[in-house]
Amino acid sequence: MRNINPYIPQTGSIPPYFSGRNNELKLFETRIQTAKEGGNIGHLAIIGGWGIGKTSLLKELKTIAAENKCESKLVVCPEIKDSNEFSEFIIGKVISPTERIKIKSVNIMGSGGEIDREVPHKHPQVRLVDSLSEKWNNIKEETKLYALMVDDIDKLLSAENALTTLRSTFIELSMEYECRYMLIVTGAEDLFDRFAEYGMTEPLTRFFEPIILRRLNKEETRAAILKPLEKTSIEFENEVVDKIVNISEGHPYYIQLLCHRVYERTVDKAIDKADMGVYEDSFEDAINDISVTRFNKIYPKSEIEKTILEILSVSDEPLSHAEIAAEGLKRNIKSSSIGKPLRRLLDKKLVKQMEIGGKKGKYKIFDNFFNEYVRLKDQLQTF
Ligand SMILES: Nc1ncnc2c1ncn2[C@@H]1O[C@H](COP(=O)(O)OP(=O)(O)O)[C@@H](O)[C@H]1O
Ligand SMILES: [Mg+2]
Repeated sequence: MRNINPYIPQTGSIPPYFSGRNNELKLFETRIQTAKEGGNIGHLAIIGGWGIGKTSLLKELKTIAAENKCESKLVVCPEIKDSNEFSEFIIGKVISPTERIKIKSVNIMGSGGEIDREVPHKHPQVRLVDSLSEKWNNIKEETKLYALMVDDIDKLLSAENALTTLRSTFIELSMEYECRYMLIVTGAEDLFDRFAEYGMTEPLTRFFEPIILRRLNKEETRAAILKPLEKTSIEFENEVVDKIVNISEGHPYYIQLLCHRVYERTVDKAIDKADMGVYEDSFEDAINDISVTRFNKIYPKSEIEKTILEILSVSDEPLSHAEIAAEGLKRNIKSSSIGKPLRRLLDKKLVKQMEIGGKKGKYKIFDNFFNEYVRLKDQLQTF
């Protein structure tokens, strides 16, 4: 019988073992208990980069909500053009068709019997408030809180007024109608900066309490690698585990991807312990996978930027501006041409500067996995 690979390198998938995030889970539990006891409802924004585990965390929070007998709904934000479309989307997701009919008839009676057509004739916020307050009236005997989870809220940023409508709706629902809704959204690392870009800084940053998701620590990373193996007949040698810990730097997607590939090759070779030979081949598979889905897209087009990345990728240590320039000279790049592209790489977050210690201010590629991609890309199958 073929062993089923427990690792799932797919965004939005439930991990085989949910590792770490203890503080985040505890914070949510506290917030939900306060809200259940009639206290303040704090809305949360889970923010972090691609593959860091936002969707997975939301799913865990949904379980906690259920354990606390709170209703919840998780919706993934689609591309939306304006607040009208947004309110229709939320109503469609939160309110079941039967509830919809009930609510419609209440609205019709309330508005003097006029028939509610498909074309929304009310302001989107009014429709949203009406529907959600009615929904709350239907469920308030059975639940003390309704957690609405909106994944990838970044997609709403460019939709005219959608985010401000969302915020005003939830303020109105709690102040005017005493509804107990908690909003939990996820967004990219720069979500709060982008609120500013769209001219909605203060109210939105105060409305959401940020939960910043970082990489897992070493211990949590080891658990994410090893726990799923307990249910299988496969083992990874210690050196392989150490390699995955180091190269992934605790990035949940990288961990799943590397482990998936190592597991696959181990089964294919009909052995029961992954060694470094298996790891080396699997690592190449993993880099090939991620080149296609991610790295090829973020790799710069500019030749000087590429060269700077290559210089950094082969250095064991972070380099200063002068050291990069010296290496650049060997590749026929004038020292004075380094500054601007280096700044662009920093802005794009492909390069970072060391923050503390003796190497403070020196430059390195933003993570080990991308460093390996830059170093090996010319040897990879996808090029
Ligand atoms: N805490 C965790 N422990 C182990 N694996 C995780 C954890 N969080 C996420 N993952 C895995 O990492 C990958 C990316 O997670 P995902 O939640 O989709 O990230 P995001 O929504 O931030 O892009 C998925 O394969 C998921 O199963
Ligand atoms: Mg996600």
